[in-house]
Amino acid sequence: MSRQNKQKLELTWIGKEDRPKLEPRILLEDPSKSYHAARRVKPDAQLGEPGYPGDLFDNRLIFGDNLLALKALEAEFTGKIKCIYIDPPFNTGEMFEHYDDGIEHSLWLTQMRDRLEILRNLLSPEGTLFVHIDDNELGYLTVLLDEIFGRPNRIYTVTFKQGSATGHKAINPGCVNTTNFVLIYARSKSQWTPNRVFTARERDKRYGQFIVNIDDDYRDWNIITLMQAFAKAAGLGLKDARKAAKDDPEQIESFVLNNARSVIRTARPSYSGVSQAARDLIDESKRRPDSTFKLERNDHSDMYFKNGERILFYADKLKMIDGQYVAGEPLTTLWDDVLSNNLHNEGGVAFPKGKKPEALVKRVLDLATSPGDWVLDSFAGSGTTGAVAHKMGRRWIMVELGEHCDTHIIPRLKRVIDGGDKSGVTAATDWTGGGGFRYYRLAPSLLEKDRWGNWIISKEYNAEMLAEALCKLEGFIYAPSDTTYWQHGHSTERDFIYVTTQPLTRDMLAKLSDEVGDDCTLLVMCKSFKGKANFPNLTVKKIPKAVMAKCEWGRDDYSLAIRNLPEPEPLPGSDDEQAEAKPKKSKVLRGKRKPKPKEEPNLFATEDGSGSVKDTAKPNTSGAKGARR
Ligand SMILES: C[S@@+](CC[C@H](N)C(=O)[O-])C[C@H]1O[C@@H](n2cnc3c(N)ncnc32)[C@H](O)[C@@H]1O
Repeated sequence: MSRQNKQKLELTWIGKEDRPKLEPRILLEDPSKSYHAARRVKPDAQLGEPGYPGDLFDNRLIFGDNLLALKALEAEFTGKIKCIYIDPPFNTGEMFEHYDDGIEHSLWLTQMRDRLEILRNLLSPEGTLFVHIDDNELGYLTVLLDEIFGRPNRIYTVTFKQGSATGHKAINPGCVNTTNFVLIYARSKSQWTPNRVFTARERDKRYGQFIVNIDDDYRDWNIITLMQAFAKAAGLGLKDARKAAKDDPEQIESFVLNNARSVIRTARPSYSGVSQAARDLIDESKRRPDSTFKLERNDHSDMYFKNGERILFYADKLKMIDGQYVAGEPLTTLWDDVLSNNLHNEGGVAFPKGKKPEALVKRVLDLATSPGDWVLDSFAGSGTTGAVAHKMGRRWIMVELGEHCDTHIIPRLKRVIDGGDKSGVTAATDWTGGGGFRYYRLAPSLLEKDRWGNWIISKEYNAEMLAEALCKLEGFIYAPSDTTYWQHGHSTERDFIYVTTQPLTRDMLAKLSDEVGDDCTLLVMCKSFKGKANFPNLTVKKIPKAVMAKCEWGRDDYSLAIRNLPEPEPLPGSDDEQAEAKPKKSKVLRGKRKPKPKEEPNLFATEDGSGSVKDTAKPNTSGAKGARR
């Protein structure tokens, strides 16, 4: 369809049409970095029980660029992830000192689009995506997500209070920015069933009366003020009780919580909104103001009236929140209560400016998951999402390309597994330890160029890796059979794949065809074969020729590493322009690049800027059976 004929409302940007042809890499486990509790804390018998998944050992921590990592996860996890929380770099416009053509925003949007499309594929039909963002790209990201998820699947835009109007940011006139946002999308709104979540609120001080003898017949109820009851319980006079409640509010708070059944208020009922029976009792209670009246109801709790008003019980307002009964109200789209005072200490790792509160992620998981569900964060940072998911008994996958994958996430999660992390949501989740995770990196590209520039299978691939990689490329599930040498994977119960680097003769293929039989089919991926391979149950393809066109090979870096961008054009008449002798490489980047401070976080960049994954550990493929304790 030509651009003019396009009817839909859409956001356009430079490079929107460019789409990478990603290689579905395999993941290689590095068992020396995987970690598991020494023993099961929760018994096997309870594994899989709703609300009690037992110890979860097979969580995954992936080191590398998340675009290739997400592509790598597609084969196994499409449609399986219940909740995704991402907190990507906010694109604060700090990469260039001057930019006037929106190129940086365009690159950011392309990077996000490519990742969000795969993230959507990974979500289960009931799944939820949460994207944490500040106001720089909020508007653009919303339109982008509307395009990918469909506007009806945009559920909420939550405002998260991430700071207060103090410190240096409060000096200048104007508004102090204290908020971020969390965009919430359902994979499919019609199948979305969030959990009911309550937030703790301060005690409702209107509940100021107290029934002294709540267990007696209601007609004999003796009602005094809450302060009188508190004074009596504390053995104080009324004046001292008021002072104690002011100086040490904890005392009266716990008195109210412990006696919530007796703490009441009265409120005028909507006369026209209640039944005739209730109206009769309201009238009667007005005529006899000193008596209490009760309306018994079958499907609802009984109603009590006194002097024309309804008696409301504080106990009905209490909810179990984070392991404690507190006054609760339904969750709203303003999250101003989850910023931790102790954020810098959470998880025992320092991650200034990037780390999000564990309570925030807990709320996300409370809303959208149940124990045992898969949770994914492909911008893991210091590992908050994994730490919280672990404590809440959810399975998790995290991807991080920075060195802090090793320096922050591994030690943080080890402490969680050992039960040594007492911070964040540990108490609220009753977490005591257990479980584990496997550490993976991305395999190198399957194909590499030889010294003559021909594509060959990478020398880093052994037979198992090759079989697993070709299963992924051809859409087969990698499941090598212990008994049948030609069954490396399957696409259906009767369709198999066999990968070999051996040259196959016609006789070998004929034998293979016999073994496969009439009921099954086999895709044979081999380096070479001789003669015509026309067997009805075999499809024979040569590698690498048969896979050459499937994707881009040898490309490790899909991130925006500033070092990898073309040089900017010199400004007209500048010294740079006069010194410029070579032909210009770029027509789009007109900005002057800001020198990059050493600590500045990259925007989607690989850690060393080279894009190559370095690791000398001898790999185990993810399909290999790792040591599980
Ligand atoms: C704002 S931080 C996330 C902080 C995290 N929510 C926490 O609580 O610690 C964003 C993270 O995304 C990572 N990142 C950026 N581009 C990436 C990419 N292409 N692949 C993987 N991780 C990436 C950065 O290294 C950084 O650690």
